[in-house]
Amino acid sequence: MRIDIITIFPKMFAPVLNESIIKRAQGKRKVQIYIHNLRDYSTDKHKKIDDRPFGGGAGMVMRPEPIFSAVETLKSKTKDLIPKTKVILLTPQGKTLTQRLAKKLSKYKHLILICGHYEGIDERVRRYLVDEEVSIGDYVLTGGELPAMVLADCLIRLLPGVLGDKNSLNFESFEGNLLEYPQYTRPAEFKGLPVPKELLSGNHKKIEIWRKKEALKRTKQKRPDLLKKGC
Ligand code: ADE
Repeated sequence: MRIDIITIFPKMFAPVLNESIIKRAQGKRKVQIYIHNLRDYSTDKHKKIDDRPFGGGAGMVMRPEPIFSAVETLKSKTKDLIPKTKVILLTPQGKTLTQRLAKKLSKYKHLILICGHYEGIDERVRRYLVDEEVSIGDYVLTGGELPAMVLADCLIRLLPGVLGDKNSLNFESFEGNLLEYPQYTRPAEFKGLPVPKELLSGNHKKIEIWRKKEALKRTKQKRPDLLKKGC
């Protein structure tokens, strides 16, 4: 997968994308991530990327020209990846990111992520350039940079070969709309608190049944809404 991120704060990305599993995924060529400074696509002599809203009002609006220019340039450089390119705008107005949406988006060969800023973005960008708007939750951040990192992280770990152990994808939270079962490691007793005996039994069938039961119990307690959704 190739991910291009268009932002006015390119320096925000390196500390997150150049660490841990995401760094390794890039090393293994499972994903290529490119960060683009929106200002580089502004033809304005001051590299302006926003302007006052028509009709008046508070705040500035992101201008359409640099955003169209960035996306069109990237699309023309990556023609071999089209039609598997999807242009996504990160905005609180978008579809809420869920594990299901992440799985769907992880199938694309090429994503272009545009980091919006909530004071506004010219409506023509949404209407004529963007394929999908994504929100990471019902709260407002200062911009789309953190949401773009969240989305990228969530998708990259789903790519084949990125996580070492295939099982770690099969039994994690939200699979089958259940939260993950409780996990324990050594010691078998800590501060007088024992590990459930089923996990120490060595009986795989018993362990599997216990885990399913616990996952269901935990989901009922913490996220009963997930059980109503069905698979
Ligand atoms: N930009 C600001 N807040 C956001 C959110 N919750 N999701 C996506 N983009 C945003």
